[in-house]
Amino acid sequence: MTQTPVLQIRDLELSFDNAGEPVTALHGISLHVMGREKVALVGESGSGKSVTTRVVAGMLRSGRDARIRGNIQLEGREVLDLPEPAYRRLRGTFMSMIFQDPTSALNPLFMIGDQFREVLRSADPRISRRDARERAADLLKQVLLDDADRILNAYPFQLSGGMNQRVMIAMALANRPALILADEPGTALDVTVQARTLKLMGSLTSEAGSAVLFISHNLGVVREFADRIYVLYRGRIVEHGRTADVFAAPRHPYTQALFAAIPRIVGRGMPAVLPDDVSAFAAPACIHEGCAEPELAGASR
Ligand SMILES: Nc1ncnc2c1ncn2[C@@H]1O[C@H](COP(=O)(O)OP(=O)(O)OP(=O)(O)O)[C@@H](O)[C@H]1O
Ligand SMILES: [Mg+2]
Repeated sequence: MTQTPVLQIRDLELSFDNAGEPVTALHGISLHVMGREKVALVGESGSGKSVTTRVVAGMLRSGRDARIRGNIQLEGREVLDLPEPAYRRLRGTFMSMIFQDPTSALNPLFMIGDQFREVLRSADPRISRRDARERAADLLKQVLLDDADRILNAYPFQLSGGMNQRVMIAMALANRPALILADEPGTALDVTVQARTLKLMGSLTSEAGSAVLFISHNLGVVREFADRIYVLYRGRIVEHGRTADVFAAPRHPYTQALFAAIPRIVGRGMPAVLPDDVSAFAAPACIHEGCAEPELAGASR
């Protein structure tokens, strides 16, 4: 029996007009995320990780400045051409997002309690103020914030970065979405808080049964957290496979260079940096066994 992926991207192309000088950010990428799977997107700065998640979230749409082609299906339903209100409903219920910087992603003008209620109302429009508050307090407890009253009555600027990040995770999980998009969650935090926050996010998403597509520059985090990895290089997927396989035997020259750049802490000196000659990075994509895009399996690609 073949399952329908929670997210399936096919041949997604994205270009920006850039004042008459078109820039292609994605050259036809395909990827999928199955239910409950945690999938990482890695690659250098500017490779197209954030724009991919923004297109999936419907926050970046075809228009005057951006041109998007290809297919995006959420549980088998084509969404790229959905009108904005329908997309907004999906964002509140089917999928949610966690961003790098929680303070700017939360609305600075509203108390946390009111923002929570808005999130809960997108799934349950008639939820009462009292029920919303109780649900929010429960969710805050799950992310280890016990002082619910104080937090719900606070504005984002009155909380620490780590607290805001937890609030965002609690909000993202509130409606038990099938898919969570996380763009470098926690990188705005110090490393110990970041590690704790990511662990928490990992266990809570597993409990909620959500699939996660996440971006991280921290390959240690990716190794611990992801079931599978896609490696992006300049708007193309150059390698993908199960995390353990890709780490054990990276096949594409770019992935090999990326992994060689992980700082070594065992006394072998400075990490290698990417070589000056990057022509090898244009090599064909490598797909590890058992990880081909379902409809591409067997296709010569
Ligand atoms: N609104 C925009 N207009 C024009 N170009 C854009 C826009 N947004 C992104 N780009 C371009 O798209 C490319 C991919 O950007 P993206 O933000 O996805 O990179 P990234 O992989 O997330 O990098 P980082 O790791 O630094 O966050 C870049 O070349 C960027 O300049
Ligand atoms: Mg980014």
